[in-house]
Amino acid sequence: MRLDVVTIFPEYLEPLNVSLVGKARARGQLDVHVHDLRQWTYDRHNTVDDTPYGGGPGMVMKTEPWGEALDQTLADGYDAGAQGPVLVVPTPSGRPFTQELAVELSERPWLIFTPARYEGIDRRVMDEYATRMPVYEVSIGDYVLAGGEAAVLVITEAVARLLPGVLGNAESHRDDSFAPGAMANLLEGPVYTKPPVWRGHAIPEVLVSGHHGKIARWRRDEAFRRTAANRPDLIERCDPAAFDKKDRETLSILGWAPEPGGRFWRRVEGVEE
Ligand SMILES: C[S@@+](CC[C@H](N)C(=O)[O-])C[C@H]1O[C@@H](n2cnc3c(N)ncnc32)[C@H](O)[C@@H]1O
Repeated sequence: MRLDVVTIFPEYLEPLNVSLVGKARARGQLDVHVHDLRQWTYDRHNTVDDTPYGGGPGMVMKTEPWGEALDQTLADGYDAGAQGPVLVVPTPSGRPFTQELAVELSERPWLIFTPARYEGIDRRVMDEYATRMPVYEVSIGDYVLAGGEAAVLVITEAVARLLPGVLGNAESHRDDSFAPGAMANLLEGPVYTKPPVWRGHAIPEVLVSGHHGKIARWRRDEAFRRTAANRPDLIERCDPAAFDKKDRETLSILGWAPEPGGRFWRRVEGVEE
């Protein structure tokens, strides 16, 4: 996979040399190119922003540097044999970045990121490149960062670990929180390693029972417990057909009940039904 990042803070992307992403680069699984947007400015101050039309606070990133930067990035990539670019635009007003979207992006051969600063990029840049390639405007959460570089690091790491051969054990992401499959929409439960007792805290006995069925059941119950506590919205969205009898029992113990349509809703404590 080829990744291009255009930014006014190339040094912010240094973590792409470290750990899983760094190793994927070293092995040639990821071909990363970071570009300084100011290369495509021609005034003494290397200006990339200007005041917003219509007034208001803050500055807006200008069309010209972004246009030249993206044209050059595309031309260089095509020259190097890359195909099928998609533009990934980090923005708090984008669609939420989810594991599903990470999987979708991991299937693309070439991602071009445009992390912005100030109040973001002049809209016409996204409109222009949307005529040439898919544009994904992506938010990594309901909060506002000062710039999109941290979002690029988040998205890159989530995508890179899904690429074939990047994780040592290909099974590792099978049971991840949000992973598609039997545990879809559930968060992963707690995990343990040696020693069996630490400062008086013992691991759950079932994990050393050697009984795979019981271990799988325990993991699923714990996933329900954690999801119910931290992300009840995920349980409400679950297709009830995915729940077995024991799941329903666990949910009922946790205070959930099926509504007439079959979906589960948490009962409000103290309310007579
Ligand atoms: C200060 S923010 C601009 C916020 C903009 N005024 C708004 O409310 O949508 C500057 C840049 O940081 C990045 N950014 C901030 N929060 C983000 C988030 N939650 N997800 C992805 N990128 C974000 C984007 O690149 C954004 O253009």
